[in-house]
Amino acid sequence: MPSRENGLDKTLAELGVTTAEQVGSRFRELQQQFDLDAAKAHDEISWKALRDAWLGRKSGVLTLVTDHWLKPAAPELKRAVGASLNELRKHVDMQMEARRAAIEASAESAAAATERVDLSLPGVIRPIGTRHLLRQVFQEIEDIFVSIGFSVVEGPEIETPYYNFEALNIPEHHPVRDDMDTFYLDVPDDAPGKFLLRTHTSPVQIHTMEKREPPVRVIVPGKVYRRDNPDATHSFMFHQIEGLAVDSDITFCDFTGTIDYFVKQFFGEGVKTRFRPSYFPFTEPSVEFDASCVFCGGSGTAKMGGTCGKCKGSGWIELFGAGMVDPAVYGFVNYDPQRVSGFAFGIGIDRLAMLKYGIDDIQVFFQNDVRFLRQFP
Ligand code: PHE
Repeated sequence: MPSRENGLDKTLAELGVTTAEQVGSRFRELQQQFDLDAAKAHDEISWKALRDAWLGRKSGVLTLVTDHWLKPAAPELKRAVGASLNELRKHVDMQMEARRAAIEASAESAAAATERVDLSLPGVIRPIGTRHLLRQVFQEIEDIFVSIGFSVVEGPEIETPYYNFEALNIPEHHPVRDDMDTFYLDVPDDAPGKFLLRTHTSPVQIHTMEKREPPVRVIVPGKVYRRDNPDATHSFMFHQIEGLAVDSDITFCDFTGTIDYFVKQFFGEGVKTRFRPSYFPFTEPSVEFDASCVFCGGSGTAKMGGTCGKCKGSGWIELFGAGMVDPAVYGFVNYDPQRVSGFAFGIGIDRLAMLKYGIDDIQVFFQNDVRFLRQFP
């Protein structure tokens, strides 16, 4: 820092400076002193100290030079002192600014160095989920039907009794409604009608036929709801895929052939199918499809000997209900029963998934225990 050695506490006359050359050398010394000081300013604090020492209003070097050297200077030296002082001031200003920029830049790069991302650190590992087994089974079944010309449509889960029952030939007070006794929505008394959670995907048969002219070939995946108490084979919500094919010349043979093809694609070529008479108000005739037991190969005998527990020794396992569309249904959608025929089926997805993957409790689908889910990546 400049001090008394620089003669700042004295006038030039007191220092014996009488010529312009001497003035020049005094200022050169001062500038060298400044350069030495400036070289030591490496951070903000020392830069500020430098600024105060040289540019401080009261006792900064430049103020002292002005007060002690310039103001009392002999008239013949004034010009030289003024010019030198200007030069020095310019030099100091420029250097101060350069230093400030340098200090700022190095602070930034120091911060960048400490804040740098360490690419060698192990990342945050987020477990990647998989599709739920039911979704996978939906996809499998959809793929099979899409490959033979069906398209996938969806319908509402909240239905009117008309779509869920009446248009499917299930009039009020029909006893099959008891099986489907279900969840009705709480609506105000003056609501236009009643609403319920659909008990099957069959109402989408009606929606589809209302919207499209035959030929129709659709499958309808979705959730359905019934007032069932949860146990190993029941749940108040489960999943179905409805199928509907209507055209001018669809026969019972097309029907059973399609189902047999599907079952073989899904369970394997070796599986046999059969159907038994059944009853649904919206199909006639109605059937129940069975597959030869996938656990004992249809023998009825368990691998370890004894009766197969899955088919109870019968060699057959019940799969799902189906049938030829009842002509009465066509009346609700303005199809001409004289000119069209078709079949429909309603596959319980949860049940099929349980059979194919050997799962003995439907509840595991809904508990979402990852130890279960992980088994089906
Ligand atoms: N909707 C019927 C049920 O849920 C299944 C079914 C669909 C039967 C289509 C015949 C035709 O039980």
